[in-house]
Amino acid sequence: MAQSTEKPIKQEYTGTDFEVRCCDTNELRNKLETTLYDMAAKNGWPAGYGHVTFSSLIDPEGNYVGLLNGEIVSMISAVNHNDKFAFIGTFMTFDEHQGKGFGTKVFNASIAHCGDRVIGLYAAPHMTEWYKRQGFAQTGTASIYRKQNPEKLPLPEGYNPAYIIPLKDVDFKEVLNFDRRYFPADREKFLHAWLTHPKVTSALVYVKDGVIHGYGALRKCIGDKWCKFGPLFADSLNVAEQLAVAMINALPEGIEYVQFDCLDDNPSVKALAEKLNFPVTPYGGAVLYKNGVPEFDVSGVYAYTSGAFG
Ligand SMILES: CC(C)(COP(=O)(O)OP(=O)(O)OC[C@H]1O[C@@H](n2cnc3c(N)ncnc32)[C@H](O)[C@@H]1OP(=O)(O)O)[C@@H](O)C(=O)NCCC(=O)NCCS
Repeated sequence: MAQSTEKPIKQEYTGTDFEVRCCDTNELRNKLETTLYDMAAKNGWPAGYGHVTFSSLIDPEGNYVGLLNGEIVSMISAVNHNDKFAFIGTFMTFDEHQGKGFGTKVFNASIAHCGDRVIGLYAAPHMTEWYKRQGFAQTGTASIYRKQNPEKLPLPEGYNPAYIIPLKDVDFKEVLNFDRRYFPADREKFLHAWLTHPKVTSALVYVKDGVIHGYGALRKCIGDKWCKFGPLFADSLNVAEQLAVAMINALPEGIEYVQFDCLDDNPSVKALAEKLNFPVTPYGGAVLYKNGVPEFDVSGVYAYTSGAFG
C-alpha cells in the first residue's frame, strides 16, 4: 500500500462495483480511521491522530470514500469550516487502484460538497497542475522544516517564562479571538479538541500585560516518534521563537523528528527555521484556492494547523 508519486497508467474502471460515499455513519468513519492508522504506520508517515474525529467536529459530512466491492480504495476530506470557507486534504487512492478514475470521482464529490465556498488545499508538487485543471489557482508555496534528533535549544533573546502560559490556564475565548486573525474561520469545537488531545505534548500561549501575542501546539504523530507544530501563530518572530523553543525544550523522550509545515508567504518563517536550526525538506508544495482567496493575516502564521484542515 505504499504511496508513490509516479504518474499511474490511466485505465478507467468501467465496472459497476465502485461507489463514492460520504462517511456519514460511524461504521464508515471507524473504517476510514483504521485504514488511515494502518497506512500511516506501514509507511512511516507523520500523519496525525484522530483525523476522522477532528474532521467530523468541523463538518460531520466532510469525509468521502471510494468503495470498490465495499472496500475503501480512495478517500478525501473536504470540510466546510463555515458558509464561506472549506478545505480539502487527505486525498489518496491506494497504489494498486490508481489511474482508474476513482480519485477523480471522490474529488468531484468533495468539490460538490464545498459548493461555492472559497476552497483551499495544500498540494504535493506532482498534483499541482491537475488541481489547476480542476479550477484551482496557485497563490503561493508551502515548505516543511524538519529537525532530526532535536536537542534542547538555548533560550532566545528576551525569553521570559512568566509570559509563556499553558493553554489550559488562559481564557479559551481569548485564544479563539487570536486564532481568528490568522485563520479564515471560527473553529471553536475543533480547536478545543485539537489543542487538548492527549497526543499534544505542549500547548502554550504567550501573554504579556494581559494581551495574547502568540500561541501554539506541538503534537505527536502516529507512531509517537514524530512531532509536528500546528498551529504556531504569533504577532512577531521573537514570540514565535520563544514559544517554539519552550515546546521543543519540553519534548518527551523518544521523539526522533520535529517538523513545522508553513506558508512561504510569511517571510519570517525562514528566519524562525534558521534560529531553531531546522533544515528545509524537499517535500514542500503549492497553496491553491478555488472560488477566490480567504482573508487572514499570513504574517503571523509560523506553522499552519493541519495539511488536511488548513
Ligand atoms: C492523487 C491520487 C489521489 C489520484 O487518485 P487516482 O485514483 O489515481 O485518480 P484518477 O485515476 O482519477 O486520476 C486523477 C488524475 O491524477 C493524475 N495523477 C495521479 N498521480 C499522478 C502523478 N504522480 N503525477 C501526475 N499526475 C498524477 C492522473 O494522471 C489523473 O489525471 P487526468 O485526469 O489528467 O487523467 C492518487 O494518485 C494518489 O493517491 N497519489 C498519492 C497520494 C497523493 O499524491 N495525493 C495527493 C496529494 S496533493
